[in-house]
Formats: sequence, C-alpha cells, structure tokens
Amino acid sequence: MKVYLNGRILDRDEAKVSVFDRGFLFGDGVYETIRYFDGVGVMLNAHQRRLARSMNLIEISGFDVEELGTLSERLLDANGLGDAGVYWQFTRGAEAMRSHSPQTDSMAPTVFGFAWELPSFETTRRTIVEAAAILRPDLRWLRCDIKAVGLLPNILVQMEAERSGAVEAILHRGDFISEGASSNVCVVSNGKLVTPPLNEEATSGLILAGTTRELLFECAGMPVEVRPLSVEEFSEAREIIVASSTKLLRAVVRVDDRVIGDGTAGPVCRLLHAGMMSAIEDQIRGDESEASGTD
Ligand code: PDD
Repeated sequence: MKVYLNGRILDRDEAKVSVFDRGFLFGDGVYETIRYFDGVGVMLNAHQRRLARSMNLIEISGFDVEELGTLSERLLDANGLGDAGVYWQFTRGAEAMRSHSPQTDSMAPTVFGFAWELPSFETTRRTIVEAAAILRPDLRWLRCDIKAVGLLPNILVQMEAERSGAVEAILHRGDFISEGASSNVCVVSNGKLVTPPLNEEATSGLILAGTTRELLFECAGMPVEVRPLSVEEFSEAREIIVASSTKLLRAVVRVDDRVIGDGTAGPVCRLLHAGMMSAIEDQIRGDESEASGTD
C-alpha cells in the first residue's frame, strides 16, 4: 500500500509521523472519508466544503481544500485503485513539547491520506446491506458538526454493538435521536423520510452534516422532513436507514431486540438505494463527459 504524507507518496512502512504530533497526543485534528467509484469522488465538493469548515472551526490552516481531488487521484493512481475509500487526516502538526497551548507559528499541519479498495459501482448497485443495530446514549461532545479525529465514544459504542452481534450503533441524546456512531440516520414515518436537523437551536452541533445525507435529499424522490426525531417515533418506525460515504445506505433491520418491519430492507430503502445509485452514476458520467469535453 502507498500512502500520502506531507506532499509525498510513500510505502506505508516508510511513512512516519512524529510522536509529538498533536494528532497523536491530543486527537488535535480533523478528517474526511470519500467514496470513489471509477476514480470519481462522490460528493467531492461537499467533502471539500465540510473540510474547509472543520479546519476553520479548529483553526488549522496551511492546506488548500481545492487540492483534495487531485491528491486523492494521485493516491488512487499510486495504488492502482478506482473503486475505493479515501481517508484524509489533517492534524495541527508536531511541536517541540507537549503543550495544551499550540505553538501555531512554528507548526505546519500533518497531512496524511490512504486509500483502500471497495466494491465496484455495479456490485454496490446490486447490493442492499441489511444491518443490525443497537441504540445507546450519545456520550460525545457538543461539537459533532466538526469532523474531529477523536472518536473514543464512537469506538466504545461500536465495540458494544459488535459484542451484541450488531454492526451499527445509533445514538440518542435524551428523548431525541442524534445519528449513528459513523453515519446519519433517517426513518420512514407516515410516508415521509424523517431525519434530525443540523442547525436548530436545540440540536445545533450535535450531528455531522453528512455528504451522503445531502445526496439523499437530492435524490430521495419523496417528501423529506428535517426535524427532531424522538426515540419514541424511531422505536415505532417500520424502516430505519443509515447513510455514510463508505456504507452509502444500509437498511437497519433490527435495533437491540426489536425487528424492524419484516426484518429485511423495506421498499423505501430499496427505492432510495436505486435513486442514490443513479445520482452517483450521473456524477461519474458527468465527470467523464467533463473530462472528454476538455480533450
Ligand atoms: N463517517 N456521522 C458520523 C458520526 C460519521 O462518522 C459519518 C461518516 C457520517 C456521515 O458522513 P458522510 O455521509 O459525509 O460520510 C455521519 C465516515 C465515513 C468515517 O468515519 O469514516
């Protein structure tokens, strides 16, 4: 595997980061994970916008988000990949001494990226993943809108999910659903798709503005209600869906001991999956026709 580190493509074993890197010492950094099909990044612009926002909010500078696409392509080429996940991490950098006060003048961000193979477009189009989940209290901080690398609460609940034979963890704060440990959540309720809001006063900062969630809005083909989703409504839903860049959409078919619907991916999930795959196909084709237009 070849990885990207601070401007260079290296063998993974050659890539070294200082033990004084603030990402290592404090989790002081942000990240993005992008899905590529056929060398085209799904919702690349949305990832760039979100990365710029995350970097801005934690005051890391020195990386131009416009480069994300080109650097991802370099990484994919170096690994001979087209259908892949691409992970990018940006930490505040390494400093002379561990300190809660970052010595920003003498630091440059550490930029690290790697890519791994994922199923092709056709395979993904044919497959609807059905997943069991657990529902647990959301123990994270109050700025989950920042895509920060520190994911300890997410990891603890993910481990708990796997111990109980599930693969997803869905989180709630009090009476309201926030999101998955690594995904956004929506349910089908009264013929509408319901998903928690990003910016309402009561929920501001509690969930990540998912790029797949955004894509879902564009291609849902049905009414979408963005509003607080109570645990009660969630518990009665006949369809529950999680969305993220690498999973795209997954049908949640069990939550703890409760079987959802008939225990298989429901009709809305199937429609949304088909709609999303054709929107992605448009993005892939769009990119190809743009490329051929400039030839
Ligand atoms: N996770 N919410 C959380 C907490 C997430 O970690 C993610 C994505 C999402 C969905 O965001 P998007 O649709 O832009 O991928 C929502 C990525 C895939 C990860 O952790 O690698």
